[in-house]
Parts: sequence; C-alpha cells; structure tokens
Amino acid sequence: MEQPAHNLGSDLGDIPADVFRKHLHQLADWIADYRENIAQRPIAPNAKPGAVLAQLDATPPETGTSFDEIFSEIERIIVPGVAHWAHPQFMSYFGCTTTSPGILAEMITAAMNVNAMTWRTSPAATELETLVLDWLRQWLGFPDDFQGVLYDTASISTMHALAVAREEASTSIRTLGLSGRTELPIFRIYTSDQAHSSVEKAAIALGLGEHNVRRIASDAEFKMNVRALREAVNADLRHGFKPLAVVATVGTTSTASVDPVREIAVICAEFQMWLHIDAAYGGGLALLPEHQWVTDAWEEADSLVINPHKMLFVPFDFSALYVRDIERLRRLFTLAPESLHLRDPAGAEINYMDYGVQLGRRFRALKAWVVWRTFGRAGMAARIREHLRLAQLFAHWIREDPRFEISAPVMMGVVCFRLKDSDDKAADQKNSATVAKINASGKAYLTQAKLRGRVVMRLGLGNVLTTEAHVQRVWEIIREAV
Ligand SMILES: Cc1ncc(COP(=O)(O)O)c(C=O)c1O
Repeated sequence: MEQPAHNLGSDLGDIPADVFRKHLHQLADWIADYRENIAQRPIAPNAKPGAVLAQLDATPPETGTSFDEIFSEIERIIVPGVAHWAHPQFMSYFGCTTTSPGILAEMITAAMNVNAMTWRTSPAATELETLVLDWLRQWLGFPDDFQGVLYDTASISTMHALAVAREEASTSIRTLGLSGRTELPIFRIYTSDQAHSSVEKAAIALGLGEHNVRRIASDAEFKMNVRALREAVNADLRHGFKPLAVVATVGTTSTASVDPVREIAVICAEFQMWLHIDAAYGGGLALLPEHQWVTDAWEEADSLVINPHKMLFVPFDFSALYVRDIERLRRLFTLAPESLHLRDPAGAEINYMDYGVQLGRRFRALKAWVVWRTFGRAGMAARIREHLRLAQLFAHWIREDPRFEISAPVMMGVVCFRLKDSDDKAADQKNSATVAKINASGKAYLTQAKLRGRVVMRLGLGNVLTTEAHVQRVWEIIREAV
C-alpha cells in the first residue's frame, strides 16, 4: 500500500536525513545477516519466467512509497527471486565471488555516485583507476609499455581491442567508416572453437561480420591447434582475405584451457596480425608464483583483457583492458566535445572517456583498491590456491567413482565431468537432467556445457565462502541426484 507523500517529508528534495540514517543502520544489519546466513537460503527460485513480474505492481508509481514498504517487497519478492551467486554451493560459471570489503566499497561508491569520465569530473576516481590498473599490470608481469583502461565487461574490452586492430590494419576507418569502400579488404579474425562468443559480438559491432570470425579447431586438451591456425590464415590469404587478428584464450569458458600463446604469437608476427589475449578468467592465476606458466608470451601481445570480477575478488562489473602503447586506443576514440571544455592544454590529465565508446563511467576503481588492499596479493593467491586444491580434490572424487568420467584436464578452478553411458545420447540426457534436477533443488547450482557436441556437467570454484565441506556436500547432492 502506498504511503501518503508527507510521510516521506513535506519538503522537496531527498528523504529526511534521520529516516535515511535509520534505514542505513537497518540495512547494515540486513547485509551482515545475508552474508552470515546465506548458506541456509535456497540458491535459486526454481520459478517460471514471469513469476517475479506477476507479483509486482505494473502501474508506474504516481506517489511516493516509504522505504519500509519497498524493502518488505524486496525481502518478499526480489531476494527469493534471484539466484544467489554468493551462496557457497553456487558453483556455476566462474564462481564470481562477493566479498565483504567489496560490498563496503560499493556502498561508498554508491554514496558518492561520481562520474569518472574525465580527470576534472573526478580527480580521485581517475587517479585511483590509474593506480589499480598499474598494480594489476605489475601482478600480471606486463612491461610498463602496456597500460590499461577499465570497462564493464570482457566483451566490451575485446571489442575495443579489435577496433584498434581494425584501425591499424587499414586507413581511416575511424573517419570514413567501412561502408561503400570497395578498396578495403575483407578482414578475418581467428579464435579457437573454445573461445567466448564475445569475439563474434565484437565483429558484429565493428562491422567486420560474424562470419569473418574463423573458429580454429582445438586439440584433445581444448587448446587452439596452431597448425590449423596457420592453415586457415594461408587459405584466407589465397582467397584474398586480410588476416587481421588472433584472439587467444587463457582460461576458456567451458574448460579453462589455455591456448599456446607463444606459438600463436609467432604466427601473428609472421602475418602481421594483432594478438589479443582473452584472459578474462585465467589471467588471475598470474598472481601465483607457481603458475607463472600462464603468462607465457604475454609480452608479445598487442592487448589483453582480464576480468578481476571473475578470479580476483572484485565485485561485478570490472574488466581491465591492457594495450601496448595505449595511445593507439586513445587516438581512435578521443573526441572531446568542445562544449564540455574538457581539453587539458598541458596534457597532464587522463580522461578515461577518451579510451572508449562510453562517456559516462562508473567509479569502478574504488572497489578494487579496497578489496586488493584488504586481502593483499598473498591473501588472494592463498584463496585462489585453495580453490585450485578443491577443484583437484573434486576431480579426484569423480575419478574414483566408476559412474563418472573427467571430461577435460583440470587447469584452474573448473571441473568438467560426465555421467557415463554406453549410448552417447542417453548420457547427454542423463547429464542434462541431473544438472536441471540439482539446480531445481536449490541446494547446489552447476552449469551444463557442451564439449565436442556432448553434454557435460561443469563446476566452477571461486567463492570465498566455499569450503571443502561445501564441495563435499555438493558431491553428495550430485550422487543423490544420479
Ligand atoms: C573466456 C571468456 N571471455 C569473455 C567472457 C565475456 O565476459 P563478460 O561477461 O565480461 O563480457 C567470458 C564470460 O564468461 C569468458 O568466459
């Protein structure tokens, strides 16, 4: 029921300060309780599409409603209507984790609500972005001719990287565009059959065409087959296409496999192609000294994307794109409207809006700065190491049970496995039905993936709240479901 507007304060402007303070205190307790007791909640609602909408008032609000009333609907309808990604037995996707320092930082960011488009619109947001990007650069082991910029997602990062590749491989696409220019070649982008669909999305957005993304076969370990890459490039050259870029993946979406970046870099150099590394997930492993193999040949790349919201404990969304000589990216996108008086004659101000399509930008750097300082590199490495241990332990249990098999090498915090059956189609159905049953139970949450056309179950670890006991419990739930 809507409250009369005077309950919200008789003046125009914000709600009264004392009311706000009261709700903030209540909310602080609610958030702390949510974190502490999250394991008791059903992970996902198991509802039909539209179930949440059906409970909400479809008429736009004409008069004001008190926060008490709004919050009671949040508790009654919204909270039970989400999939609780922070639940310790949510093991879908990459287990993007919530952390308490991340929540605290997001609250501060929300309170300030600044726009990080230019240095002047928020000097601290800009300078903190520069700082956290440089910390991450050091952790990733990049030389300092690589510099970064923050976007929301890896899809957007990859699109910007390929935009620079496109601009450098041709002339004046920034100014003249692609359409009607018969002098331009048809560009080709190469990526493995395990790569993320964001590569095609980028090709669509950049006018390069989805069909000009060539999917290169992967080998038995789901890594790009370099011989097949070379053959595809040569075949395209024979047919008059222009090889533009290769997107190598470090931590593929289904199995977390790692492409042979060094060998791919050799081919890129030979054919003058841009090398973009999609390390959206796997890049985080670079923080562990014993996993430096993951960074092999990164210094040969033109660009790399990493999503610290996948493995590095930063709340969603937070994606960092690194480009060697980032001026190339700035030149492509800088277009400061004079009306905003944004130009800095001395050139000392970094205006991150110049490095991409977006003008307005969230203040994303604060949450990374808070989380990374809270845990430190060593603390994050220890947590990642534990997730890797749990993945290996789970894989060990799978191998011990004759009903199951491991479907891909376990490289990171991801395990792909499958219920066996002499009939492949029957096995597909069983695996699919098992995941559906588990997810509907609200007690665990897995993903199903397709590998070489066969359905597999997939478990992803990365949540700071997940312990060995939770993984053990999920293993029991899987066996009960079977
Ligand atoms: C390897 C890889 N690259 C890119 C993406 C796209 O990420 P985003 O959601 O940040 O666009 C994903 C998503 O999971 C991914 O697994």
